[in-house]
Amino acid sequence: MDTDRSNDSRGPTPELRIDAERFQKDFEELAAIGATRDSGVDRPALSEPHLEARKWFLAKAKQVGLEARIDAAGNHIAIARTGPEPQPRSLLLGSHLDSVPQGGRYDGALGVSAGLEVLRVITEENIALPFDVELYDFTDEEGRFVGLMGSQALAGLLTRDQLQTPGQDLGIFHEALDRSGMDVSRILEAARDPGSLAGYLELHIEQGLRLVEAEADLGIVTSIVGIRSFRLHFIGRADHAGTTPLDKRFDAGLGAAAFNLAAHQHVGRNHPGCVVTVGNMEFSPGAFNVVPKGVDVALEFRAETEEELDALESEILSLAAEQAQVFSLALEIDRLERAASVVMDPGFQKAAAHAGGALGLKSLPLSSGAGHDAQSLAQACPAGMIFIPSQGGFSHSARESSEWTHCVNGANALLHTVLALAEDADREKREIR
Ligand code: HGY
Ligand code: MN
Ligand code: MN
Repeated sequence: MDTDRSNDSRGPTPELRIDAERFQKDFEELAAIGATRDSGVDRPALSEPHLEARKWFLAKAKQVGLEARIDAAGNHIAIARTGPEPQPRSLLLGSHLDSVPQGGRYDGALGVSAGLEVLRVITEENIALPFDVELYDFTDEEGRFVGLMGSQALAGLLTRDQLQTPGQDLGIFHEALDRSGMDVSRILEAARDPGSLAGYLELHIEQGLRLVEAEADLGIVTSIVGIRSFRLHFIGRADHAGTTPLDKRFDAGLGAAAFNLAAHQHVGRNHPGCVVTVGNMEFSPGAFNVVPKGVDVALEFRAETEEELDALESEILSLAAEQAQVFSLALEIDRLERAASVVMDPGFQKAAAHAGGALGLKSLPLSSGAGHDAQSLAQACPAGMIFIPSQGGFSHSARESSEWTHCVNGANALLHTVLALAEDADREKREIR
């Protein structure tokens, strides 16, 4: 490693470990913010508990001597400077402090709290690195309004159109932005010059069972699934539920339900490895005694390749049109999110596997069926992800849990992957010279 920048900075440190006790204290403090009675957390993006968690993060960063800032997309950032001057490039670490409604305490928060501990160790130990290290808590990873909003903004992928069609009412979105001190007209300014990024690394729980089944300690992520989402509006006619005969109705609920079942069966039969989900249906007017006039359907599907996503899109939307016709309904379609499927950088995979090996941990290469901020970053710079096992494979639920030993292993793997990437960058520099 480069040791000529500062006289008392440290070189290679294979024996270095994070402070597990301090890390646990942080993790638990975070889990208490927006805690639910069943040990989960409820921190939807830009809600009061989410803003409180973000405040906790910046306060903690400042308290331990890191620089802290908030960008135009609301991303909260802690920075470890590793030289006397800001370095031309930064390695980014990150994850998110928002949760799905009634979610778990590990999804996102693990990566942020572990990142904080890693930055603290780098600063305390005065480790010489060829880049600064910045830790991002990204805005709205879970897509309450615009999925992966903060990371897409940073990677220069976010569009004004996406900000016009949030997954919630536009008024509620703007109110939430105001409450958070954000200005919608400036969000795209969070884009960073890719030349300033040495890469992106994220630690996360697996949210599935493959690591447990393989008795592995770490997952080295090879790729992340592509995700598309739509809001479908099935439109019929409101009628009296007592006096309108069944064969005289234009019941939007029937079209929406039949579509849900048809899409589920179609993908199950024809697209192994892909998934489709109707996560919500909103009936209007929504009363026991009124035949539903309209149903808004929240639809998403996922696949490993863009070709498969294209095929799913045309087939699933045709099924919606068919079912609307069967029940004599109108159908309107709003396109919402589009997260590309991405491959993780081979050099980052190698560095993470190397770090795991040096720590005596068993690692397994695996793809991610969950979306992550890393998929935005992978489109701007080399990116990698490390997973730790999820007990029972549960996630997006309060049942989400990982053994603390695995969390500590993950944080140490994160630290040592940073160090391995630094060695790679130093080697590259020497070779160029
Ligand atoms: O929806 C997802 O896959 C992720 O957890 N944000
Ligand atoms: Mn999630
Ligand atoms: Mn997550």
